[in-house]
Amino acid sequence: MKTPPFLYGTAWKEDDTERLVRLALAAGFRGIDTANQRRHYFEAGVGAAVGRAVAEGLVTREELFLQTKFTYRSGQDHRLPYDASADPAVQVRQSFASSLEHLGVTAIDSYVLHGPSRGQGLGAVDRVVWGAMEELHDAGSARMLGISNVTLEQLQALVALARVRPAFVQNRCFARDGWDREVRRFCDEHGIVYQGFSLLTANTAELRRPAFREIGGRVGRTAAQVVFRFARQVGMLPLTGTTDPLHMAEDLAIDDFVLSDRDVATIESIGEV
Ligand SMILES: NC(=O)c1ccc[n+]([C@@H]2O[C@H](COP(=O)([O-])OP(=O)(O)OC[C@H]3O[C@@H](n4cnc5c(N)ncnc54)[C@H](OP(=O)(O)O)[C@@H]3O)[C@@H](O)[C@H]2O)c1
Repeated sequence: MKTPPFLYGTAWKEDDTERLVRLALAAGFRGIDTANQRRHYFEAGVGAAVGRAVAEGLVTREELFLQTKFTYRSGQDHRLPYDASADPAVQVRQSFASSLEHLGVTAIDSYVLHGPSRGQGLGAVDRVVWGAMEELHDAGSARMLGISNVTLEQLQALVALARVRPAFVQNRCFARDGWDREVRRFCDEHGIVYQGFSLLTANTAELRRPAFREIGGRVGRTAAQVVFRFARQVGMLPLTGTTDPLHMAEDLAIDDFVLSDRDVATIESIGEV
């Protein structure tokens, strides 16, 4: 399946996950991001919504892009999707099998390492875990692989050691870092799709700046629409986790306007002035 132009994020939705994913699918989202990390995501709720939408004929499995993640013990609470005492490669296989069960599918479109095991560089465990993810890819059950919450240095190290290179990077995107410019550039150069999250919530001060507001006023769009359109134009795949059906529709309605090169340049540097 083709990667969709927008991903609907399912973090922090708890018992509302099924209802909100169902609304997102009805609104037109075809890409869903989740994780087998019960602390922040309710993956089985995503699966329930997907199963119902497919059964009712709203979407087919082939039209959907389903992305989930392997999360280390340090990012989990007591509700682990694997045996804490098992080897890391076994934990990957257990977590993945549990994701398939939660989502009610036989393959995942994108399987993401939620973050490296340490803040800087990659550890031996990251190599083992990536190797286990590569085996899932070899078997055809993880169609593409990705990594989240990475620095440029960690991404370079992963690309150097990987047999199956990441197809995606998913990072929190701060305007004050030029919207993660260095990582995005590396992604561009290596054919990796950059997924940006917290585009609104990480940048509230920047989105209040007069230069940013002027653009929204002139093109007649909301701040969210301008940010998501900007993200698209600079090559990002944006995520939104909105819980509001009006915002869902608004976020998807960004194909009918174009920001000028000058507006894109203004937004690129909005956090650096
Ligand atoms: N890899 C990771 O470690 C990681 C970490 C965090 C998030 N994520 C992923 O990214 C997804 C999105 O998370 P996020 O941090 O970007 O935040 P988010 O959950 O998308 O939150 C957006 C916030 O902005 C508000 N908002 C106002 N107008 C909006 C509009 N037009 N469109 C969208 N939101 C609007 C939303 O309120 P309303 O609900 O009222 O619209 C909400 O409070 C998550 O669900 C998750 O899938 C991944």
